[in-house]
Amino acid sequence: MNKKEWTAQLLRDSQSLFRCPICHGNLTVNGTVVRCSSQHLFDIAKKGYINFYGKPSPTDYDRELFESRYQVIQNGMYDPLHQKLAELIDREIILDIGCGEGSHLANILQHYQQQGRGVGIDISKDGIQTAAKYHPGILWTVADLANSPFQANSFDVLLNILSPANYQEFRRLAVPGGLIIKVIPRAYYLIEIREQLQGNRQYVNDDTSAHFRKQLQMVKQKTIQYKWDIPSGTAEHLWRMTPLTWGKSKARPLSQITVDLDILVGKV
Ligand SMILES: C[S@@+](CC[C@H](N)C(=O)[O-])C[C@H]1O[C@@H](n2cnc3c(N)ncnc32)[C@H](O)[C@@H]1O
Ligand SMILES: [Zn+2]
Repeated sequence: MNKKEWTAQLLRDSQSLFRCPICHGNLTVNGTVVRCSSQHLFDIAKKGYINFYGKPSPTDYDRELFESRYQVIQNGMYDPLHQKLAELIDREIILDIGCGEGSHLANILQHYQQQGRGVGIDISKDGIQTAAKYHPGILWTVADLANSPFQANSFDVLLNILSPANYQEFRRLAVPGGLIIKVIPRAYYLIEIREQLQGNRQYVNDDTSAHFRKQLQMVKQKTIQYKWDIPSGTAEHLWRMTPLTWGKSKARPLSQITVDLDILVGKV
């Protein structure tokens, strides 16, 4: 089976999770053709993902940035975060919203071996193409989180890591009692990079955190803070994995980087 056929097979197995993002009708998968009852057609790409968006991505994130994120994540920068998230997740069908190049979801699913089912959505085609290149076996979708191609009450867990949120849509997508896990930066996240960029201050996440609490029933909050020793050959990728540094060069070499994050866990 090639990647396109395999993606069609994965989609057939999870067909009940999906809906047409245009008319909200049910989707059917015939061979490698995906269509809804109103004949809207969606493309399963040769590279192994489904495009529900059909327009150029409006985000600034490009292929090079996602490749760099992939290298950094594979080298272990977020391993302690993945460990914490895996401890919080005890259910099977996981949707990563704003999944980028997919490594967070892929690493977390490894903890579940055969049991977990993963779906990733991102509006960036470059992000989803990178995810499909490195992480087969997960359903990767290009779509807008504000108008997602998923049926209501479908996912046990929604992950939303360092990405924008849409709580109305999150409430629609989660099963009753489903978990919504949002990861947001704290004051010292990537401080060693921001120190080198003039005019870049500490992150303040109070508004994001307060908004989450207003929108959802809070279950718990965890903070995770550590310094990661940057392996040789990874510092360039680290510099390029965020739009903060675009067009700017490092003034000093980086040997360590601070990860400082809040994990907010809520339910519908
Ligand atoms: C900082 S990146 C984080 C990506 C990934 N979660 C990670 O931590 O590596 C933010 C992501 O949100 C995605 N994004 C922004 N607006 C979106 C939207 N309306 N729908 C879906 N994804 C969106 C971007 O394309 C980008 O991949
Ligand atoms: Zn339709």
